[in-house]
Amino acid sequence: MSETKFRQIAHKIEQRIDQGEYPIHSKLPPHRILADDLDTTPTTIAKAYNLLAEKGRVESFVGRGTFVKPLAGQADSHDEENAEYNFSIIQPYLASNLPYLQKAMEKASRYLDLQLLSYADQSGHEAHRKVGVTWAKHYGLEGGSVHNTVLTNGAQHGLSLLILMLTDVGDTIAVESHTYPGLIAVAKLLGRKLVGVELDERGMSPESLRYVIAHYQPKVVVVTPSHQNPIGVSMDEVRRKEIAEVIEYTGRWLIEDDVFGFLNPQPISAITNYIPHRAFHLSSLSKAISPSLRCGFLKLPDSMVSEVNAHLRANVWLASPVGYATADQLIETRDAFRLARNQRQLAERRQALAQEILGPQVRSTRGYHVWLPLPNHWSPEAFVMEAKNLGILLQSGNHFSVSGIATNYVRLSLMSISSEARFKQGLQMLKTLLASEMHAAFPF
Ligand SMILES: Cc1ncc(COP(=O)(O)O)c(C=O)c1O
Repeated sequence: MSETKFRQIAHKIEQRIDQGEYPIHSKLPPHRILADDLDTTPTTIAKAYNLLAEKGRVESFVGRGTFVKPLAGQADSHDEENAEYNFSIIQPYLASNLPYLQKAMEKASRYLDLQLLSYADQSGHEAHRKVGVTWAKHYGLEGGSVHNTVLTNGAQHGLSLLILMLTDVGDTIAVESHTYPGLIAVAKLLGRKLVGVELDERGMSPESLRYVIAHYQPKVVVVTPSHQNPIGVSMDEVRRKEIAEVIEYTGRWLIEDDVFGFLNPQPISAITNYIPHRAFHLSSLSKAISPSLRCGFLKLPDSMVSEVNAHLRANVWLASPVGYATADQLIETRDAFRLARNQRQLAERRQALAQEILGPQVRSTRGYHVWLPLPNHWSPEAFVMEAKNLGILLQSGNHFSVSGIATNYVRLSLMSISSEARFKQGLQMLKTLLASEMHAAFPF
């Protein structure tokens, strides 16, 4: 047996643990069965299990087998068993990121110095802005530099700051007809009007955008080019160019919300690349690493750098550098990109499982969520309520509707349940509920 073979096998098993295929406390397959599955020998499997036991990932008991051990602080599936099935919140599969975050935070704490603890320039420490430039460039943004990139407390902060800065009370903002509720909330609270642009299979429609601009004169257009929330569609390069042309021709500002860009298997050129003088590009680490870091990156048109800095100063002084110090470590070791890739692969696996269990009405996408059509006998509100009674959380499609016109969809997020077994169990329960007409008998 080669020295590297059992290490490779151990790595594969660890990946399966990290992706929830082998949940915490579950029994790993017997040596012979896994050996067949991974095209190796039972002896190699035994050596791989020993290595994982030394690393503290598994535990073996004579006569009983080998079991997955929880890491310090890792969500325990026993605890999860008593919690709700959370298909509601869009976040990464945190259990696999946790050990890397623990390591990066530990390392970052050793570099904590007086400069990091002080008030600093409102655009953030230069090293941290560099993190943002590297991250966004990796996923298709060109022209970012420490001079035109600032730090925000997540993409949500960037969105609200830009809307405050670029529009006045009563102004109109064009967005996708169904959009991220965080954006709807900002517009409502700040007294801005939203107008919906139609979406098709390739994302925001340029024809509809032209029409909306001509009829409603929005000052700003907000677009999510990759894995749009909630519909899940992504724009190809041609569509991105078309949208850029409309923005350029009509002289509007564009906010490109690219928080899901890392989920594309190959980087796709950002819309901002075609119109850097008109576009603000937002990315963040929330969906690939952890929302708790609150690390957002905003690339600006050169003409807007000082105005954005003035807003940042007035708004938060500066985004807290502590999370960025951790992000810096993750980028330096390249772990950030590995974690992002791991999340993408898990999302693909969970999309396939959702399709397998719920059927072909689950459209094939690579994102974190599913836009699920309901049969006619269900309204989204009744379905969400009945699901809640079963301990399943999900979102009514109506929360995303800009026009307020009712939809017949719900949105399912696929990544926040840790154990794959529970994930499948939750989907099976939803499948049964979809087919059931019980609510019609008890409409109150
Ligand atoms: C499209 C979109 N933009 C922005 C955000 C907010 O991201 P962050 O956690 O970086 O503020 C979300 C969160 O769900 C989102 O779906």
